[in-house]
Amino acid sequence: MFARFRRKRINPVLRDLLQETHLRVDDFIYPLFIKSGEGIKIEVGSMPGVFQMSIDEVIKECNDLKDLGIYSIILFGIPDTKDSVGSDAMCEHGIMANSVRAIKEAHPDMFVTTDLCFCEYTDHGHCGGLDPVLETVDNDITLGNLAKQAVIHAKAGVDMIAPSGMMDGMITAIRNGLDEAGFVNLPIMSYSTKFSSSYYGPFRDVAESSPSFGDRRSYQMNPANRNEAIAESVADEAEGADILMVKPALAYLDVIRDVKNNTTLPLAIYNVSGEYSMLKVAGKAGVIDYDKVMMETLMAFKRAGADIIITYHAKEAAILLGK
Ligand code: PBG
Ligand code: ZN
Repeated sequence: MFARFRRKRINPVLRDLLQETHLRVDDFIYPLFIKSGEGIKIEVGSMPGVFQMSIDEVIKECNDLKDLGIYSIILFGIPDTKDSVGSDAMCEHGIMANSVRAIKEAHPDMFVTTDLCFCEYTDHGHCGGLDPVLETVDNDITLGNLAKQAVIHAKAGVDMIAPSGMMDGMITAIRNGLDEAGFVNLPIMSYSTKFSSSYYGPFRDVAESSPSFGDRRSYQMNPANRNEAIAESVADEAEGADILMVKPALAYLDVIRDVKNNTTLPLAIYNVSGEYSMLKVAGKAGVIDYDKVMMETLMAFKRAGADIIITYHAKEAAILLGK
């Protein structure tokens, strides 16, 4: 006697009935990069299909997204001016506040999340204000600034805040700041387990956020650490995060499962720029069937435990899912 697994694989309808994991267009959050100006839509060399856009172009883009059934976006701002603390991010008329106001006015039905960090806004490209002695980001000064930035986004009408800077205590600081300002119902999706990864390379081209010196290893996690990966997300759950995240995704499927099994919150994963670009380049070279590998990859994130997928593939996947 042996098990006949194939008995259930022969009829395609039965095969579908028995499928354990499903990918839906509602799983996706689509990232957008916004610059000031008008009529700007510049494709990023290292990320075919991804653009820096001005606010008016993003508003047009939202129509296309909604036609595809995508109602959730995450915004990254590219400011006109950078300084040592990232002032534009804390300004009511900064790129992010202006973008959120305009997008929510044009598309009240779009669920708008903002990435909350300072690396796009500082002249040194690090994720907060610097401690001159340690020559790295000053954790506790940055906490106060993150709370300010969160309140600026909240007042502009954002639907969810996603802090990505890997500062200790950032969820407590942001939650307190939001609550004191009256935004008790604004959810926080924490980039809770974020690794110091070389897969972010293309993103830093598009977001213009490469550090001018050093790297992010004194605040982002060591890719070798599995226990710490769980501890980081468990800590953010305890601090009051509403949704957790593992980032990157493709090389970290084990971590996605670990975090899912050790927390009770919904879990997002970030299918990052380098993962996207690898498939694009391989597809173009004719090495892989791009559409099929993309869908298999996205499905793998869900199987690993993801509830939400932040991905540059969202539009392409939505088209395939609609067929
Ligand atoms: C900003 C931020 C980064 C990404 C998302 N938010 C870059 C970084 O930490 O250097 C990476 C996203 C991607 O690679 O697609 N802190
Ligand atoms: Zn950052």
